[in-house]
Amino acid sequence: MVGRAIASRLSGLGHEVVVGTRDVEKSHSRGDAGDLRLLTFADAGAFGDVIINATNGANALSALNAVGEKNLAGKVVLDLTLPLDLSSGLPPTLTVANTDSLGEQVQRDFPSARVVKSLTTVYFEVMIDPSRIPGEHSIFVAGDDADAKAVVRSLLAQFGWPENSVIDLGGIAGARGVEMYSRLFFELYQAFGTFDFNINVVRPR
Ligand SMILES: NC(=O)c1ccc[n+]([C@@H]2O[C@H](COP(=O)([O-])OP(=O)(O)OC[C@H]3O[C@@H](n4cnc5c(N)ncnc54)[C@H](OP(=O)(O)O)[C@@H]3O)[C@@H](O)[C@H]2O)c1
Repeated sequence: MVGRAIASRLSGLGHEVVVGTRDVEKSHSRGDAGDLRLLTFADAGAFGDVIINATNGANALSALNAVGEKNLAGKVVLDLTLPLDLSSGLPPTLTVANTDSLGEQVQRDFPSARVVKSLTTVYFEVMIDPSRIPGEHSIFVAGDDADAKAVVRSLLAQFGWPENSVIDLGGIAGARGVEMYSRLFFELYQAFGTFDFNINVVRPR
């Protein structure tokens, strides 16, 4: 869901986009990437200047291993993954929390990549079109590399996120908070019966 939505939105914005998948033939026959090019994880990694990790959380690290360390070296990796355990239904529990996060694990396993955690606090349709939610609302970025965060902020702006809606949580350890928010996110989903919502952080002016 997320990969398809982000890829097609970026393509519509004029970016050159390819989609990585485990089984190119199978994904092609399912029409997974629409008109976009489907490649192996490794070939997609070699192609991209910016890598967007939209794999499921349980396999996020193994998918990046398939992309390959050399294809990630020096690149901005926008990590959209959540370490959700849905085995007991909703709301999920997290497979990593409190003292670590999936974002940090990605950064640790691929130290030469420039990992930025963002967008995981909203549903994929809101990620690529924040105007679905009326009024002001917030989105977060966390990562150790300031230039990488600037690249991600530029993508957020292209998706329609106003500059003042973006809250910088500092280093990649900020991924802990946004990942742990997913518990409340799914509780809000259960309360509202829709994923069309977001939070707005308000402060005195
Ligand atoms: N859905 C949302 O609105 C939303 C919101 C915030 C965050 N997220 C997070 O964004 C990520 C993607 O969400 P999604 O709903 O699009 O997830 P998904 O459909 O469950 O998984 C996305 C991709 O993960 C890859 N994958 C699955 N098993 C794999 C394995 N064993 N090895 C390597 N790759 C594997 C698959 O690639 P192939 O089958 O193509 O090989 C699949 O297309 C998740 O981490 C999710 O928690 C989602």
